[in-house]
Amino acid sequence: MVMAEEVAGSLSHGRRWYPDVVQQVAPPGMFDLGPGYLEPPLLPVDLLRRAYADALSEFGSAALSYGPDAGALPLRTLLADRLGPPCTPDHLMVTAGTSHALHLIAAILFRRGDLALVEQVGYDLGHAILADSGLRLRAVPMDSAGMVPEELDRELGAAGGSRALVYLNPTFHNPTGMLVPSARRRELLKVAGRHGAVIVEDDAYAELAMSRSGRTDPLAALSGYRGVIRLGSFSKSLAPGLRLGWLAADPETVARIQAHGVFTSGGSPNHLASLAVTVLLVSGAYDQHVNWLRSCLRARRDALVDTLRANLGEEFTFDRPGGGFFLWLNAAGGHDEQALVTRARDAGVRVLPGSRFGRTATPAIRLAFSFNSPRRLAAAAHRLAAAWNPTDRMQLWT
Ligand SMILES: Cc1ncc(COP(=O)(O)O)c(C=O)c1O
Repeated sequence: MVMAEEVAGSLSHGRRWYPDVVQQVAPPGMFDLGPGYLEPPLLPVDLLRRAYADALSEFGSAALSYGPDAGALPLRTLLADRLGPPCTPDHLMVTAGTSHALHLIAAILFRRGDLALVEQVGYDLGHAILADSGLRLRAVPMDSAGMVPEELDRELGAAGGSRALVYLNPTFHNPTGMLVPSARRRELLKVAGRHGAVIVEDDAYAELAMSRSGRTDPLAALSGYRGVIRLGSFSKSLAPGLRLGWLAADPETVARIQAHGVFTSGGSPNHLASLAVTVLLVSGAYDQHVNWLRSCLRARRDALVDTLRANLGEEFTFDRPGGGFFLWLNAAGGHDEQALVTRARDAGVRVLPGSRFGRTATPAIRLAFSFNSPRRLAAAAHRLAAAWNPTDRMQLWT
């Protein structure tokens, strides 16, 4: 029986979680519900220490060489098996995470000024990568099932056949947690296919479904890898410090990307990390770890959702996400988004405003449940309810 409060390794308690060693550090004394990454006790230090040692024993000096331009074949073979037919190793390329893959796609397959159609509310930093690579971004409206196909059709029609990329994050979406249903996936594929647009399916959270019913076929699989480039990452299921991910596309597209000088010069990025992960996939340790991680995340999600449900006013609406890291709160009843963020901060809880991710219909807040224990999330939810509920505020003031 796996205990959700277990830590992933004896060294994984954040001993050196300092600003000069990690990208971000939580503000002192705050419950930080901002970061979209795993908290230190969930990072598998011991597992990876053994995996790197095993990879060096098994592959010897080959683990310390430049890797093949598309990435080590043992990893691509294992990934192809996991993705299933028609995916083969030639459909796969190892990348330094999803962020790197997005940059490669924008820089190699597109030209400056080409159109990138993005979700009206979506992963802000993914949008930044596309914009910083010179693409021209336009936001496409969404409804409760994701990007609206008719709106995508309209945008692509207006673009008059010029080259376009459609960036989607359909599985446990950042920031809303939404899972785009199969029917909507098929409609979006049809529209993009009709206009010859390439869909980039960012599936960074796909491994983190919290129940069997929470799984849906990737757009790449539905399309037979035609017109879709799917991106995967080990950042969310193992550790972002690995800087390891992959892209899956038709073999011609993969060949175009791997022919770029960055690979012919430098070979596969993070070759040693890719062999360490290979070892974990072969032994079954990766799947065991991800099962454990899912149970940890489920406990964290439930602690946050249940405490908010029991204590927040009715004007706050939200769904229990089926996977991933994020809970998305919509606030009706005249709430001001910035005021909600400020009142949360004054109560010792850091949350992110929905508007950071695009144009929202109502004031909204993103809460990440990946970076705090269930106990801390429940405590943070109590603080949020006290800070945001008008009646509680009145009691505090009187
Ligand atoms: C939707 C999405 N894509 C990509 C990333 C970054 O992935 P990687 O670490 O593989 O670059 C994140 C991380 O927050 C994300 O939320």
